[in-house]
Amino acid sequence: MKKEISIKDSIAIVSGANRGIGKAITEELLSRGIKKVYAGARKTESLAALQEKYGDRLVPLQLDVTNQTSVDNAAKVTVDATMLINNAGTMAHGGFNSENMLESINQNMEVNVLGVARLTQAFLPNIQNKSNTAVATVSSVVGLGSMPMMNGYCISKAAVHSMIQGLRGELQESNVLVAGIYPGPIDTDMAKGFEGIELDKPEALAKNVVTALERGEEDIFPDVMSAQVKQAYGTTPKEVEKMFSAWK
Ligand SMILES: NC(=O)c1ccc[n+]([C@@H]2O[C@H](COP(=O)([O-])OP(=O)(O)OC[C@H]3O[C@@H](n4cnc5c(N)ncnc54)[C@H](OP(=O)(O)O)[C@@H]3O)[C@@H](O)[C@H]2O)c1
Repeated sequence: MKKEISIKDSIAIVSGANRGIGKAITEELLSRGIKKVYAGARKTESLAALQEKYGDRLVPLQLDVTNQTSVDNAAKVTVDATMLINNAGTMAHGGFNSENMLESINQNMEVNVLGVARLTQAFLPNIQNKSNTAVATVSSVVGLGSMPMMNGYCISKAAVHSMIQGLRGELQESNVLVAGIYPGPIDTDMAKGFEGIELDKPEALAKNVVTALERGEEDIFPDVMSAQVKQAYGTTPKEVEKMFSAWK
């Protein structure tokens, strides 16, 4: 059963809505007529420009996904929400050739994995027994094949991919669309310093993500590079590993 989402009948929470991909998805949802977006940010003052632009339809929400109290408070004030976009993330570099490998894994796991698990768990009661509901979580193409230069980050995104599948399995009998988003390199602060790699724009990604949610797609490959990875992953996953291991 396809679980198509009507955006104009939705109310979303977006974590990390103040910049990058989260901001672009927030703006795309608002431009498609969503009722309201709870824009999650660690510092709500970073949402001032968005709030001015969208008025009452954009509700600033203090949200640090590593802080249980912040997450619980956010879930309490968003009982009318129907959609969660787990976007907040971090990238701590470090592979086996660096001294801070374990620290890097820890930092990535704390935000990217435990942060998503914490927020999703707190939010799920808000959408149970409602229709037109979704949990969409940003993993990455490097969650499907590791890139050596960012090993600790890839480990966390592979765990996010697994968590998406697990959640989808748990909620298969429900109305909730559980979607995974697998971007390639996107032009945000996180991608500063990616050299020799073409970056897609977050606004283009956001359009594709929202269209895919409307269609009820579970696996969303929203940019040029991720579309190539989808192709390779669908036929020979080993090719993805080879493709990424060439980038050092
Ligand atoms: N850019 C890419 O190439 C790319 C590719 C694939 C996947 N992704 C994923 O896409 C998502 C968004 O990344 P981006 O590229 O937009 O990166 P970004 O520009 O660095 O933005 C990261 C966002 O996450 C927020 N955040 C970080 N730690 C947080 C925490 N503990 N609690 C709440 N919010 C927190 C940041 O808030 P502050 O402003 O407070 O720091 C910011 O809003 C991430 O999950 C990332 O892993 C990115």
